[in-house]
Amino acid sequence: MSKITFPKDFLWGVATASYQIEGAWKEDGKGESIWDRFSHIPKKVANGDTGDVACDHYHLYPEDVKLLKELGVKTYRLSISWPRIFPEGKGQPNEKGMEFYKNLIKLLVENDIKPAVTLYHWDLPQKLQDIGGWANREVVDYYEQYARYVFKELGDLVPIWITHNEPWVVSFIGNWEGRHAPGITDFSTALQVSHHLLLSHGKAVRAYREMGFEGEIGITLNLVPVYPDPSSHNEEDAAAAIRRDGFQNRWFLDPVFKGRYPADMINWYSKKVVVPVITQEDLDIISTPVDFLGINYYMPGYIKADPDAWPLELKHVFTGKDRTAMGWEIYPEGLYDLLVRLHKDYNGIKIMVTENGAAFNDIVNREGKVEDDNRLDFLYKHFIQAYRAIQDGVNLTGYYVWSFMDNFEWAEGYAKRFGITYVDYKTQKRIIKKSGHWYKEVIKNNGFEVQFEVGLR
Ligand code: FCB
Repeated sequence: MSKITFPKDFLWGVATASYQIEGAWKEDGKGESIWDRFSHIPKKVANGDTGDVACDHYHLYPEDVKLLKELGVKTYRLSISWPRIFPEGKGQPNEKGMEFYKNLIKLLVENDIKPAVTLYHWDLPQKLQDIGGWANREVVDYYEQYARYVFKELGDLVPIWITHNEPWVVSFIGNWEGRHAPGITDFSTALQVSHHLLLSHGKAVRAYREMGFEGEIGITLNLVPVYPDPSSHNEEDAAAAIRRDGFQNRWFLDPVFKGRYPADMINWYSKKVVVPVITQEDLDIISTPVDFLGINYYMPGYIKADPDAWPLELKHVFTGKDRTAMGWEIYPEGLYDLLVRLHKDYNGIKIMVTENGAAFNDIVNREGKVEDDNRLDFLYKHFIQAYRAIQDGVNLTGYYVWSFMDNFEWAEGYAKRFGITYVDYKTQKRIIKKSGHWYKEVIKNNGFEVQFEVGLR
């Protein structure tokens, strides 16, 4: 048995997002979001679930902050619902909405929990979707106005800001696959959306700097370590894997950290779809220096070429590894590969894991406990890989487990549970799961005993 200890001041945390936990979907002047609209359309979300009530965090937040304290987290990542603050997306702010976040954030600060606030975790005001959503460049300006107002009100209380959560998902799941709000299925629109999201990111970073705050600001990307199908060794699959990396990872990383879109992807897209107009000025704004990169890691991608799959001509294959309840393959070493690669390709940037976790089919047992050994094991193995990366020089400074509690898992509704805290949606009772109790010890000891040296290469 050996003990691994993380660097001093390592930021252990948990994460959530507004639409997934708050509920109170039309209370105190909140406007409709695209997820309110989408989830009320029959068949869009499993079991007809909506975020109308969710974990009722809007009302139960004092109790939830107590739970965070009980877990001993150093930091809590939450997001702000834009339509709670600007019901119309722009114009007059709704003071009641801001009051909720102020109260919550003050309570966190009083309890010595660092708030990390995401400005956009997918709940666009529906009013802005009505004028074209993120495909309309005007929305970039409305986002900047929203960001400035939030910075003005909360900037002194919040040390860590995240402009966007997973712009890849917003662009391609929301506007190409259509499985998420707003449910559009057009690749060229999705590309346009991605450019505007990145532009709005850069504008928010500039605004934050201009306003003279001293905290840190970054962006969260969902990155996938990509490998060619391990069962075949051909050039087509290798090329498809590079394309997949361009589509998923470099399309977002390169503009932010290198001030350009990847040339191979611009070439590929130009032959197949409409590529957005991209000016040098846009690229300068997008590449405004950030303080850190947030990464959400859930699974690896094994790729095969597939000429019939327009427009990327590739598909995913499964390798037979264990999977979570989402069907996502479990590969902790992928986190190590990803971290080391980012460190190497992007100049040793400071990184935080802003999400990592797993859904499993939890049960409350006869003793009223949730013994989620599978989730505990998942976290244990991923923490070890994060530790290895730190040992190898990666500047990883924090780790947020997704999620603080079970919540509305987008198109999957409440059927998929990611929490280290169980939520009984009928009674709104919370139960810290076994993984949560274990995580509490990890935080307290800033590390843990490695009982079984799995993956510790
Ligand atoms: C990520 C989202 C987060 C959560 C996890 C499981 O893509 O950012 O809100 O749903 O997946």
